[in-house]
Amino acid sequence: MIRIEVDLAARSYPIFIGSGLLRDSALLGRAIKSRQVMLVTNELVDPLYAHFVEEALQDRQLRKVSLADGESRKTIESYYQILTALLEAKFERGCTVVALGGGVVGDVAGFAAASYQRGVSFVQLPTTLLAQVDSSVGGKTAVNHPLGKNMIGAFHQPSAVIADLETLNTLPPREFTAGLAEIIKYGLIRDRDFFDWMETHLDQLLARDTATLSLAVRRSCENKAAVVGADEQESGERALLNFGHTFGHAIEHAQGYGNWLHGEAVGAGMCMAARLSTRMGNIAPTSRDRIINLVARAGLSTEAPESSSRAQLLEAMSIDKKNKDGHIRLILLDAIGHASIRDDYDEEALLEVLGPSATFQAA
Ligand SMILES: NC(=O)c1ccc[n+]([C@@H]2O[C@H](COP(=O)([O-])OP(=O)(O)OC[C@H]3O[C@@H](n4cnc5c(N)ncnc54)[C@H](O)[C@@H]3O)[C@@H](O)[C@H]2O)c1
Repeated sequence: MIRIEVDLAARSYPIFIGSGLLRDSALLGRAIKSRQVMLVTNELVDPLYAHFVEEALQDRQLRKVSLADGESRKTIESYYQILTALLEAKFERGCTVVALGGGVVGDVAGFAAASYQRGVSFVQLPTTLLAQVDSSVGGKTAVNHPLGKNMIGAFHQPSAVIADLETLNTLPPREFTAGLAEIIKYGLIRDRDFFDWMETHLDQLLARDTATLSLAVRRSCENKAAVVGADEQESGERALLNFGHTFGHAIEHAQGYGNWLHGEAVGAGMCMAARLSTRMGNIAPTSRDRIINLVARAGLSTEAPESSSRAQLLEAMSIDKKNKDGHIRLILLDAIGHASIRDDYDEEALLEVLGPSATFQAA
């Protein structure tokens, strides 16, 4: 079992990574400390993995909420469903909310934990690749608003993250591939060696080889923990984790939540950001091509969907938490392994990377 610390003074917590960790009742029992426990999962993950948690916590006062599945259910209504369950169970401030599932369950349950009685303990049991390498670590919680993704939320750190690699065996291929986008992201923004490693180990990763997966999840969590430890509330470096996400969120929004998976949109978004970085003369065309090639080999789209016009994407990009004084700010690359937040990009070049102009005129 691998253990990584997220170093945040009084809010520090461990990330445990390994195969079969959900079967480890003692580990679950130690990580989830309270008597009252609200297990939040969804209708798909519940029959697969909830019994491990239920068995491990037999001696606790355990209640369960099983949400409807999908990004389209990352809503204030799902959040409210959890709050109602907490109130109906008369759970007190000392309770723990446990998220068992992917990033959607983690984000909604985390927001409920952040706000129930002004904040209760929270433990993450991520079961998708994306959640294990990214969303379960760092304390960002949110629900979507019809006008913008993740627009309602709070920072609320978990007290532990337990990533059981065995759960990835049941993950559909499309979801697994979506998680690869966030892994590639760490290499691009701050870990050149990891990017090089991904180029040589992608095939083993796609085959879900346990040792390769373990290394990829570990290195991703180490990168995320380092960034979050240095900038918990995103006043600086943490914004770099949004590489590809401004474009990606716009694609998700323009296509309707759930049609493009988050990771799929981030994969295309990273390629768009790489193209813009090259247009600005920041990275060589050869670097851009390496990035696009790796994203394509992972099985991800490298372009924005043709059905979203430039105007739609631009409109969606105008609602982004990084924007300042009405100006879209973007994370762009200075090299493979180094990124910065920029607002000095060429507007024409931005329009070009958003897609063919014909769709723009038609909009
Ligand atoms: N909080 C953060 O820092 C952060 C970071 C990145 C992404 N996110 C958010 O995460 C969400 C995406 O997360 P996701 O990709 O995990 O999507 P998801 O939560 O929708 O899960 C993907 C699908 O896989 C299913 N599933 C989960 N675990 C499974 C398993 N082990 N076997 C079979 N099926 C399983 C889910 O039910 C769902 O249908 C987005 O809403 C995104 O905004 C948050």
